[in-house]
Amino acid sequence: MALLNIIEEEKDVSKALRKKSRYVDEITPRILTLLDDMTETLKASGGVGLAAPQVGVLKQVVVVDDGGKILELINPEIVSTEGEIEDIEACLSIPGKWGLVKRPLTVTVKAQNRKGEWVNHTGTGLIARCFCHEIDHLNGVLYTDKVIRMLSPEELESV
Ligand code: CO
Repeated sequence: MALLNIIEEEKDVSKALRKKSRYVDEITPRILTLLDDMTETLKASGGVGLAAPQVGVLKQVVVVDDGGKILELINPEIVSTEGEIEDIEACLSIPGKWGLVKRPLTVTVKAQNRKGEWVNHTGTGLIARCFCHEIDHLNGVLYTDKVIRMLSPEELESV
């Protein structure tokens, strides 16, 4: 396994964060290595989710840390949502910043696992938010495109 470099928006000269990721037709050994390396990188970062374009790979691959359990999502797609909530959001590619974003309260995604099986995952609150945020990354969308307003460090404590 290897730690991957997380691309920051300000240093993204190739605009990888703004490109659409490609559908994964075949789960090759390279995809499995990518999943392993993304998991290691996510754990080291302390973040909740990581999308492949954030490490410069334009493929529809996401990892999410659901309370210590890693969800590996290949070709993830939102199948249903419920409710709506404004909450704080941040991104490993936009360090040192936070903003208020409206997202569904509960989200169900379908995605392939590393065996190629399609599995549904339902998350509420932070995990629902993370599903939406990471799938946005696969479409070249950043939370700052949807932010209601950015928060100062002082405001963070009072929200
Ligand atoms: Co992000």
